[in-house]
Amino acid sequence: MRAAWVLLLAACCTLDHICQGQQDPDAAAPSPSSGAPSTGGSGATLPPAPDLPLDRITLPPGFSISLYVDATFPARFFALGKTDANATVVFVSSTKGTVTAIVDTGAASPRACTLLRGLDVPNGIAYDRATGALFISEVTRITRYAGADAAALAGCDASLLSSALVSDQLPQQEDHDARALAIGPRDGKLYVTVAAPFNLGTCVEPFCTIHRLDKNGSNFEVFASGIRNAAGFEWHPDTGDLLFAGMERDNMPPDHNNAPDDVLVAVQQAGTGYGWPYCHWVGKGPPEQRQPGPGSIIPDPEITPPQYGQSRPPDATLAQRCSEQTPPPVQALGPHVAPLGVLFWAAAPSVQSSAGSSNGSSGGGGGGAAPLQRWPAQYDGTVFVGEHGSWNRDPPIGYRISNVALSADGRTAVGHTVFAQGWLGSKGSAWGRPVGLLRLPDSSMLVADDKNGVVYRISYGEKTGSGSSGASRAAPAAAWMLALVLGMALAALLCF
Ligand SMILES: *[C@@H]1O[C@H](CO)[C@@H](O)[C@H](O)[C@H]1NC(C)=O
Ligand SMILES: *[C@@H]1O[C@H](CO)[C@@H](O)[C@H](O)[C@H]1NC(C)=O
Ligand SMILES: *[C@@H]1O[C@H](CO)[C@@H](O)[C@H](O)[C@H]1NC(C)=O
Repeated sequence: MRAAWVLLLAACCTLDHICQGQQDPDAAAPSPSSGAPSTGGSGATLPPAPDLPLDRITLPPGFSISLYVDATFPARFFALGKTDANATVVFVSSTKGTVTAIVDTGAASPRACTLLRGLDVPNGIAYDRATGALFISEVTRITRYAGADAAALAGCDASLLSSALVSDQLPQQEDHDARALAIGPRDGKLYVTVAAPFNLGTCVEPFCTIHRLDKNGSNFEVFASGIRNAAGFEWHPDTGDLLFAGMERDNMPPDHNNAPDDVLVAVQQAGTGYGWPYCHWVGKGPPEQRQPGPGSIIPDPEITPPQYGQSRPPDATLAQRCSEQTPPPVQALGPHVAPLGVLFWAAAPSVQSSAGSSNGSSGGGGGGAAPLQRWPAQYDGTVFVGEHGSWNRDPPIGYRISNVALSADGRTAVGHTVFAQGWLGSKGSAWGRPVGLLRLPDSSMLVADDKNGVVYRISYGEKTGSGSSGASRAAPAAAWMLALVLGMALAALLCF
């Protein structure tokens, strides 16, 4: 359908001057699900989202998935910005130099624009609700941006932004340079990952840690250590534990495919060490669906703790030492699933729009008009994990969103299930890769996909039919047919 429209425009362009200046007819034309093109600070237009087989995503009954924004842009993690009766602002980080802003007014489809560009792996993103400041972590520094909401609402008007360096104390590194960043809800400090600069090796600080620092850059210190890569994290609101998704090592003999597991860890106390690279966890049950719990701990077969020198003791001795010194994770997530996004699901959304009125609109996600969704109570107090998927496991694993249910004290897993899957095809090739997760004020969930450069919205109890891509595009298709006919008529008039 769209291809026909492009062909027609292209043909028209070769015939006459009326189409001159339209470099990209597809982007310039009205996009199927948003009223206006998404523009960046420089006036650049974001390309429309690719056609994706969303009908292949399976979700529990009552849930549906759709594209949140009809645009494609680099997407990794989210920060929820200003939200009020008129609009919700969402900031999206990337590993490709850009930060994107999405503005959702509830009325029409949300619009996206490029807020920042040219940054060095701006993967970490956090919004300070108290001051409205946006914090971004790049490889070696953290920067504070004031005016980000206003700039976003003005279509990414960069002149409304002002920036200040918070810290440039982060080390340069090649591997695992995508730093996660978040603000501690209790101490108001910035927490940032300094991962291992390699697949496997003995760590020297500042590497293999989560660091924290004051928002003004002072008191940069280790918060937790012995961690290969805490790729994403957030906090349990009741226990105050920092919940991180730990990405484990590759190519471990003798069975790389099935060990070690990536893990969901609850840091109960500052200063805790987690034993990497000497100790790893292997979950119970099939690798694709580990049973609830941490599984068992094993010593690394290739690295011996330094106190033993050249004489490596038996594995049983090392395993004993590991279990004595390493707190167990909450959940062994499976080998190489590559967990990135961590989202604690409170019984009620932590940030609610001040919109008192729900005007019956269900089109928008976070904008003022969207009614509050009530997800099934079984998700209250659970943790969703966005699994990016393996890169060298055979067969591949992950590429899904899993859910970990917790005991009443919030520190033990009592359930481990798959919430959303289908990005991994049956032949082992994946068409999408989930990363960051965000709960919108209306209690729907955003999911970033950094393979396609899109943002999905998962909602519950909406009868929009947007669960499958086909249905959500049916109505626009009719409009497109009309546009095509009108376009042909107009072209005929103008071209002759
Ligand atoms: C929403 O927009 C209206 C009209 O522009 C304005 O009067 C009102 O103050 C806005 N509300 C909020 C919460 O910003
Ligand atoms: C930085 O912030 C911390 C915490 O608010 C404060 O105690 C400290 O004095 C500040 N340091 C500077 C140099 O402003
Ligand atoms: C609800 O929708 C109606 C019509 O669409 C509009 O006139 C009215 O202002 C809306 N009310 C609120 C509180 O947003």
